[in-house]
Amino acid sequence: MKNIIEQIQFLHNSDNILDYRNKFSDLKKNITKKEVIYFCGNSLGLKPKSTNQYIIDELNDWQDLGVEGHFKKSKPWVSFHEKASLMLAHLIMAEPSEITVMNSLSVNLHLLMVSFYRPTPKKYKILIEKGAFPSDQYIVDSQAKFHGYNPQNAIIEIENSLKNGVFTTEDIINSILKNKDEIAIILLGAVNYYTGQVLDLKKISSVAKDNNITIGFDLAHAIGNIHLKMSEYDIDFATWCSYKYLNAGPGGVSGVYINKKHFLDSQIPRFEGWWGCKADQRFEMKKTFEPAFGADAWQLSNVPVFSIASLEASLDIFNAVGMPLLIKKSILMHKILRQGLEWCKANYENSNFEIITPKEDGSFGCQISILVTKNGRKLYDYLHSNSIIVDWRNPNVIRLAPVPLYNTFDEIGRFLKVFKKYFELK
Ligand SMILES: Cc1ncc(COP(=O)(O)O)c(C=O)c1O
Repeated sequence: MKNIIEQIQFLHNSDNILDYRNKFSDLKKNITKKEVIYFCGNSLGLKPKSTNQYIIDELNDWQDLGVEGHFKKSKPWVSFHEKASLMLAHLIMAEPSEITVMNSLSVNLHLLMVSFYRPTPKKYKILIEKGAFPSDQYIVDSQAKFHGYNPQNAIIEIENSLKNGVFTTEDIINSILKNKDEIAIILLGAVNYYTGQVLDLKKISSVAKDNNITIGFDLAHAIGNIHLKMSEYDIDFATWCSYKYLNAGPGGVSGVYINKKHFLDSQIPRFEGWWGCKADQRFEMKKTFEPAFGADAWQLSNVPVFSIASLEASLDIFNAVGMPLLIKKSILMHKILRQGLEWCKANYENSNFEIITPKEDGSFGCQISILVTKNGRKLYDYLHSNSIIVDWRNPNVIRLAPVPLYNTFDEIGRFLKVFKKYFELK
């Protein structure tokens, strides 16, 4: 372990984006008097210090302008989401018109299913990974029911051939090919919430397209975590939340990506609302709906200004640092943390855990999930009582997510010292 701690010290000293840590709030030392190590950005990202001001600016405009705020000179509320859409497009390498910001993730998944799940008597099945996030499972089940199908028959779950919920790309491709004549749509989590596994979006979407199948991704655990390059994949749609790696705060507004190839397809059904009209017509109260160009046509309600202001605060930080540097640090963090965990496993007979996140390049992001075979909750409580915030997912997984934007290598070193001690004490 000494050698690993030395490597960590070296990485800490050569971390050229370490200063970004200061842009995020420190958690109150509310658990013990010790400093908190927060490895939970996969669940709820830390608050940027700047967020207050972004929200206060809008509060002040509300205070000073009232309803006129919709048409104020700078960032009018009538088109308030557009700046965030622009920054998100940059972040995930999409075109700005392919992005919109609205609602929350589960709501958007349903709205996108309205547009992209168009079952026919022969092709009506929905392909989803086994062990998908529960909300995604409820969404596909209820969508199948809504269209008059029995989910038992209409939902195909991809089985994983590797243990502990990890898939090979072949598992997914084989399942697509085996059922291709019946699948209407594929919906997958780009990064699995439980295992932290990153899927090969390019390969999987190209197989879907070769077989004429609509494919969409839930990017909840991917955006701000892995380097998404939407322009390089043939994905029909995607959506995400912004409270995890995007640090927009609890319940933060969701985002949507719709591939531009669908913009002129009048066959695609869509639920419509007044905010989906062209920006300059939103207050014209016309009887007929004239859709905005691109993903904005999927908007329904006027946008949540404070929530988007909060998202902008974080996106401005992402913009300043850029994904390439974050990814470089993320990989180093992941590898050194894994090395430390593996060391514990090899050196303590009582270390009853295994790392379930795959280790091949490209198959992991920030998160490392450890499956604790016995008394997992005890380990989780021990970490918690030592001011280490990680999260627990039933039945037996602890998720650790050092986030390159605000976590430090030094924190990984301190975490490992506490973690190691647990097995010495037992
Ligand atoms: C993968 C995934 N999908 C869907 C959701 C549901 O998100 P929301 O509550 O914002 O609808 C979550 C929430 O954590 C998630 O992790």
